[in-house]
Amino acid sequence: MTPPATAARKLFSDILGGEPEVIVRSPGRVNLIGDHTDYNDGFVMPMAIDRSLRIALRTRQDGRVRVYSQAYDEWTRFDASTPTTQDGWRAYIEGVASELGAAGLDVQGWEGVVVSSIPSGAGLSSSAALEMASARAFVEASQSRWDPIEMAELGRRAENDWVGVKCGIMDQLSSAMGRRGHAMLIDCRSLDIRHVPIPHGAAVIVLDTGTRRDLRDSAYNDRRAACEAAAQALSVPALRDVDASDLDRAGEILDDELLRRVRHVVRENQATVMLADAFDREDIAEAGRLMSASHSSLRDDFEVSSVPLDAMVEVAISTEGCLGARMTGGGFGGSAVALVDRDATEVFTDEALTRYRQRSGLEGSALLAEAVDGTTREFPA
Ligand code: GLA
Repeated sequence: MTPPATAARKLFSDILGGEPEVIVRSPGRVNLIGDHTDYNDGFVMPMAIDRSLRIALRTRQDGRVRVYSQAYDEWTRFDASTPTTQDGWRAYIEGVASELGAAGLDVQGWEGVVVSSIPSGAGLSSSAALEMASARAFVEASQSRWDPIEMAELGRRAENDWVGVKCGIMDQLSSAMGRRGHAMLIDCRSLDIRHVPIPHGAAVIVLDTGTRRDLRDSAYNDRRAACEAAAQALSVPALRDVDASDLDRAGEILDDELLRRVRHVVRENQATVMLADAFDREDIAEAGRLMSASHSSLRDDFEVSSVPLDAMVEVAISTEGCLGARMTGGGFGGSAVALVDRDATEVFTDEALTRYRQRSGLEGSALLAEAVDGTTREFPA
């Protein structure tokens, strides 16, 4: 068993006594390109990363669910058939239980512990990992079938309706469907996924700015509402249906701010498909350029970056070994992601973080991310 799975097992024994019957694992993710495109039916290219959340559990016959979170040092306790809590970390587990019930599953009880190595609020989808691991835990306890795409959609519904974040499908799908050594080009309309190998010469480095912003803040939902308003004004089902040649006409219909939002989505969709092609050709220089250009669009047109994110991206791009960098995820804080020459990762990391500290006065941190498989049952294997 891997050391983290051992940690989950040990915590289970310490807290609940005895041995877990099942250990499930769900990874966090970093998005390489395609931000604020998923809820516009567009393209994204994330990868599941080697930072994971685990739940060690034992089934219960009385329909009760009891879960202890190590990170919060708190419990949630509820009836599997009547979850109630809609705030904090508990909402993710109870929301998933509620959606599973609504989908017709005879939801069974269990008790367990949650152990995670995914920093929360860093833009690495710790919440989607909790949703997917909870879904897997319920599926195991209820002896049902695991369908990763269906479960990703269910996790998203839990987050939309139970937690109140109008997120798209990217995070849940990455956590459910990642593949070792690969990024995933996802068409968020058809949910087709193409696993794209990470080029050999490149490493993916997550650069945490050390600043946080809760996605439940209204800015995320505001951006989504703006995109929906723009699609309606342009008479298209979603901004996915707008392409570069439509932008002039869009300029006659939309105000300047909405036009910039649309321009970001149009460019970002195009760049996402192009990044997958660049990875196929192992053209890491072009891949880096596409990522850096995406940051400018998120900063200037979509306006979801922040002063620390801009500082991190700028120092990264001008540090030796860097091929390109951008903010990643919802924005307003959290992490940037850099594509770096494989041979230069250590020097790059040290230098970028030192320069970030000098420039912003903030303590950042870095993580060399490897792409891993999506949600699995680790034990029994
Ligand atoms: C958050 C959401 C995702 C996606 C990104 C931005 O991570 O959960 O669905 O919209 O922001 O790309």
